[in-house]
Amino acid sequence: MLLHVPDVLTAGELAEVRALLERAPWGDGRVTAGVQSAQAKNNEQLPQDAAEAAALQQIVMRALNRHALFFSAALPKRVFPPLFNRYGGAANAFGNHVDNAVRYLPGGRAERVRTDVSCTLFLSDPASYDGGDLVVEDTFGTRSVKLPAGDLVLYPGTSVHRVEPVTRGFRVASFFWLESMVRSDEQRRLLYEMDTQLMRLRASVGETDPAVIGLTGTYHNLLRMWGDV
Ligand code: NI
Repeated sequence: MLLHVPDVLTAGELAEVRALLERAPWGDGRVTAGVQSAQAKNNEQLPQDAAEAAALQQIVMRALNRHALFFSAALPKRVFPPLFNRYGGAANAFGNHVDNAVRYLPGGRAERVRTDVSCTLFLSDPASYDGGDLVVEDTFGTRSVKLPAGDLVLYPGTSVHRVEPVTRGFRVASFFWLESMVRSDEQRRLLYEMDTQLMRLRASVGETDPAVIGLTGTYHNLLRMWGDV
């Protein structure tokens, strides 16, 4: 499933993030790439130990934690601390690649995150740059994604994807991976669709309708069967 999640950051948070990133020390993006994807990767990245990184990560994580649509679609179990990248000038593209399946949490920690879901949170106004589309190839075909600042796209970690060259301006984004409570993309999508329809049903017939109670139970029983927490 590839899903556009709108309004993840408020206008105030976006301004705060941009101010922090403006004074950030950008470095070579290849530091977090695997051997193969390092050959395709040509962008800049905020070093994970930069002074601004912790504050930026906190803003993004807080926004994700309150976003019901994001939660319903991703069912996150563990989220890799968000990273930040910039495309423009001579470092302006990232060719086709698949993200590494397993990521070690930074800081020498032993914990790992299986990258079931990849996320890109767009931070630049799309009118301020040309190119820079995220192109995702998966079972749903090829999709080209360029979103308003503050919006996020989530897509399966299994997808081949790329970022097209930025030919004017700079494309700044946050990107990260998450391990989902539901490993299978297909099962996760079914739960998301069921949850979406349940919300519509609750809005039209009320919370206490017996069918709403029954179907809510079925949703949770499926999550209990498929989920790993
Ligand atoms: Ni990638």
